[in-house]
Amino acid sequence: MNAGSTPSDLAALRSRAIDAARQAYAPYSNLRVGAALRSARGEIYAGCNVENGAYPIGGCAERGAIASAVQAEGKEFRLAAIAVAAFAADGTPLPVSPCGACRQALVEFGADAQVTFLQADGSWIEVDAGALLPYRFILPGQ
Ligand code: THU
Repeated sequence: MNAGSTPSDLAALRSRAIDAARQAYAPYSNLRVGAALRSARGEIYAGCNVENGAYPIGGCAERGAIASAVQAEGKEFRLAAIAVAAFAADGTPLPVSPCGACRQALVEFGADAQVTFLQADGSWIEVDAGALLPYRFILPGQ
C-alpha cells in the first residue's frame, strides 16, 4: 500500500501541479502540462513538459518531476503520489492522463502510488499507478 495522502496533502499536490504547468515550454502543442509528486520521504518535486523543434525529444511533465526527485533523493526515491494537470495556452483546463511511457516510469518508483489527474470539468481522477498499466513490463529477475 502507498503511504496515503490526506485530502489536504492531495490538494497541495494538485495546486503544485497547476503551478508547474505555468512553467511549461509547449510552443508546438500548446498543451501546458504540470506534474507534482510527493516522495515517500514527504518531499514534493515538480516538472513541466519541455518541447523541442525536433519533436520526439520533447519531454513529459511527469518524467521531469521524477528526474528531479531522483536527482534529490537518489536511488532511495519512492513515489507516494503524483498530480498532473494540463491547460490550453489561455488557461482553460484540458483533460489529461499520463501517457504510456510515463505510466511505465511511474510504476518503476511506486506501483501503489496515488495518481490524480485533472479533467476538463475541474474534477480529478484518482487511481493507483499499477491500475493504469496492467501487464506492465517488469525486467525479468527484478
Ligand atoms: N505530455 C505530458 O507532459 N505528459 C503526458 O502524460 C502526456 C503528454 C505533454 C508532451 C507534449 O509536450 C504535450 O503534452 C503534447 O503531447
